[in-house]
Amino acid sequence: MNVVSLFSGAGGLDLGFIIAGHNIIWANDNFEDAVKTYRKNIGRHIICGDISKISSNEIPNHDILIGGFPCQGFSVANTNRNNKDERNKLYLELLRVLVDKRPKFFLAENVKGILSLMKGKVFQMIIADFRNAGYRVKYKVLNAADFGVPQRRERVIILGVRNDIEYNLEYPEPTHSEVKDLFKDKKKWITIGEALKNIPEPESKHNLLNHTYSKFKLKFNGYLGNRAVDPNKPAPTVTARGDEKGGVVVLHHPNNIRRMSVRELAITQSFPLDFFFEGNNSSAYRQIGNAVPPLLAFALASIFPKEITQNETNKTTTKTI
Ligand SMILES: C[S@@+](CC[C@H](N)C(=O)[O-])C[C@H]1O[C@@H](n2cnc3c(N)ncnc32)[C@H](O)[C@@H]1O
Repeated sequence: MNVVSLFSGAGGLDLGFIIAGHNIIWANDNFEDAVKTYRKNIGRHIICGDISKISSNEIPNHDILIGGFPCQGFSVANTNRNNKDERNKLYLELLRVLVDKRPKFFLAENVKGILSLMKGKVFQMIIADFRNAGYRVKYKVLNAADFGVPQRRERVIILGVRNDIEYNLEYPEPTHSEVKDLFKDKKKWITIGEALKNIPEPESKHNLLNHTYSKFKLKFNGYLGNRAVDPNKPAPTVTARGDEKGGVVVLHHPNNIRRMSVRELAITQSFPLDFFFEGNNSSAYRQIGNAVPPLLAFALASIFPKEITQNETNKTTTKTI
C-alpha cells in the first residue's frame, strides 16, 4: 500500500515497511543528517523541513500514515517531562494530516512513558483525538526483543483503522521470548553478546561501515548509559534526544571496556550492515537511538494488507479493531 511517513528520522520504521512490500511515497523530517541518511539508504522521496510549516496539500494521498512523533516531552528518560513541552504538540501535526488526508490506516509509535504522563490524561486525550478524527483505535506496548531485536526496547504502538474500512488489524505475534517456548514455537531472546560476537574491534582491519566510536571513559554509576552491559541478555534500551541538541545515550560494549561503535549500536537496533549513517559519531548515534528497530517495524508493517478490495471500503462499521 502507499505509505506517508512523518518524523521519519534515518528511516528505521520505513525500512520495515519497504521490506514488507509497501511503497513509501512521501516522508519528512527536519534533522538534516537523518534526512541525508534516509536519502542514501531508503529513497529520495523525503523532504527536509519542519512539518508544522508543510501544508497538507503538499502531502500526497495515501493508504497508511506512519510516524513516531517526537517523544522527549513524554519520555521518562527526560526528568523535566511535562505537558507544556512544545514538542508534545507535534502529535497534532500527525492528527492534522490524518484529518486532512483520511488514509485508511495509521500507525503511531511512542515511548512507554507517554502512557503515564499527567496520570495518563495526555494519552487519553491523544487516543480521543484520533477516535474523534474517525478512526477505530487501539494500542499496545511491544518489546523489540520479542521480535528478534537484541535489545529490550518497549514502545507503545497505536493502530488506527478508518471507521468505514472493514478490515481488522491484529498486533504481530512475538517470534521470540525470554525463555525458549517450544510449545508456541518461540525462539529465545537474542543476547547482545550473540549479536556482536562476529564484529571485529574497531581498531582491527575490517570493512564495516560506521565502525567508529566515541572514546569517553566508561562510567559505572548506575545511570542510563553508565551501566555495565550484560552480554548474556538483550541490551538495554538505546535512546537519544529527538533533535540535534543535547546528549545521546551510547551503551557500553558488552566487553564493558569501551562504548559501542556506531555500527554496533545500529546492530543493537537491528539495522542491516550495509545501512550507512551520515554525519559525525554523535549525530549517527542519535539517529540510531531515535529509530524504530527495522525488525520490529517489519513485523508491524506485515499486519497491513498489501491492498484492500472495494467491498472492504465504504462500509459503515462499529466493529473494534
Ligand atoms: C523518534 S524520531 C523518529 C524516528 C523514525 N521513526 C525511525 O524509525 O528512524 C522523531 C523524529 O522527529 C523529528 N522531528 C522533530 N521535530 C520535527 C518537526 N517539527 N518537523 C519534522 N520532523 C521533526 C526528529 O528530527 C526525529 O528524527
